[in-house]
Amino acid sequence: MATDSKSATAALPSPDLKETGKVDLVDSRTKTAYSVPISQGGVEGDTVIRAMDLRQIKTAPGEFGLMTYDPAFMNTASCKSAITFIDGDKGILRYRGYPIEQLAEKATFLEVAWLLRHGELPTKPEYSKWVHDVTYHTYVHENIKHFLTGFRYDAHPMSMLCSAVAALSSFYPDAKNISDARSREISTVRLLAKVPTIAAFCFRHAKGLPFIYPDNDLGYVENFLSMVARMSEAKYEANPIFRKALEVLFILHADHEQNCSTSAVRAVGSSHVDPFSAITAGIAALYGPLHGGANEQVLRMIQDIGHPKNVPAFIDEVKSGKSSKLMGFGHRVYKSYDPRARIVKKLADEVFKVVGVDKDLEIALKLEEVALNDDYFVSRKLYPNVDFYTGLIYRSMAFPTDYFTVLFAVARTAGWLAQWEEMLLDKEQKIARPRQVYVGYGERAYTSRIG
Ligand code: CMC
Repeated sequence: MATDSKSATAALPSPDLKETGKVDLVDSRTKTAYSVPISQGGVEGDTVIRAMDLRQIKTAPGEFGLMTYDPAFMNTASCKSAITFIDGDKGILRYRGYPIEQLAEKATFLEVAWLLRHGELPTKPEYSKWVHDVTYHTYVHENIKHFLTGFRYDAHPMSMLCSAVAALSSFYPDAKNISDARSREISTVRLLAKVPTIAAFCFRHAKGLPFIYPDNDLGYVENFLSMVARMSEAKYEANPIFRKALEVLFILHADHEQNCSTSAVRAVGSSHVDPFSAITAGIAALYGPLHGGANEQVLRMIQDIGHPKNVPAFIDEVKSGKSSKLMGFGHRVYKSYDPRARIVKKLADEVFKVVGVDKDLEIALKLEEVALNDDYFVSRKLYPNVDFYTGLIYRSMAFPTDYFTVLFAVARTAGWLAQWEEMLLDKEQKIARPRQVYVGYGERAYTSRIG
């Protein structure tokens, strides 16, 4: 796409892949030899061949040529990215090169949101302007309140969030101008600013409480907590442990390279739809229980188990397939301890020092202990993922179980936006359009079966 990406505030386009060798292939059908280039990403980048290089492999001129078949993208890179690095075997996660442990300890969420989008940590003036801009845009149009009140009191907050963010697109028709860097930037700021406001309104609606408007004297996380929890007090003051815990959890959830929801944002965004619509696709994908919805399922599972003494029997049920999976365990990429889970576990200890240990935490600790010593989980490299302990922290902060994924979505909006921008600036990207292997009928004549 043609973009005016020279703006000082635009994100960096991702660098090109470098050729590092060739792989020689022989087609046993034709005995023809092919030499296919191997390319590599950055210093720690994976090695790949371009799937299009296989298209030359055919048995006759005019034939379509060889495709790859890869359900669920188990071994296919759909893009180059310079945003997030994961080494699943070593349990490493970095945003723009910075280890997640350092960012969680020292950075703010908005600093991380800037880093993800721009590639570097913000300078002091850049950060001040960023915080100012995001804070300035936290208010939403009054009509959004009106349609949120149309939801039933027991509507799932992810359905509400998804619909309301989709509707934002209709309030900002200029956001369709995605080839303009300034337009993309203002949409980014609007989404980062307004998603927490809408998320908080969803919470208040479910509780039958009046909506609380943003307080622009407060920081990002504290303002969100104020919109969720403020009652009659003139000025909301968040519990500092809860504020810090949420800031860390937002940082941990901010991006995770090409997961299901990010891939959805990129695929939908590749049609050049406005960013509000593209981010809505991410929220919908995140809702699923195998993705962001897992934190909700972990808590429901723990409550069903009921007591630490029931854990071994439950694990046996999981292994025999009688029960669902052990929610909060396993990951497509991490084949060792999820580095985010390690930080979350430490955070849970700090929060529970304040609110006290409860039975559910004991059940979680027992589940982890039993699973990590069981050959079923060890041999499949199934370790706790980020969602295993987050629900317990959220619940101790009095968030309802069905609200956990909303918190994930607020944070992940930062990553989705950075990935969307990177996708648009990548000259190799086109509208996402996977191929299929057709396995249905050959041509047949129509004969009515309804007489
Ligand atoms: N409990 C029990 N068995 C499991 C689990 C689990 N949580 N996860 C995977 N397995 C088994 C699976 O049955 C399979 O066994 P077998 O080889 O005998 O058929 C083997 O481990 C490989 O699993 P897979 O389904 O091929 O792995 P995947 O990469 O397709 O799935 C996953 C990854 C995260 C969807 C899966 O581990 C899962 O469903 N976990 C529970 C849900 C969950 O916690 N999701 C949150 C993921 S982290 C946050 C996020 O990124 O959204």
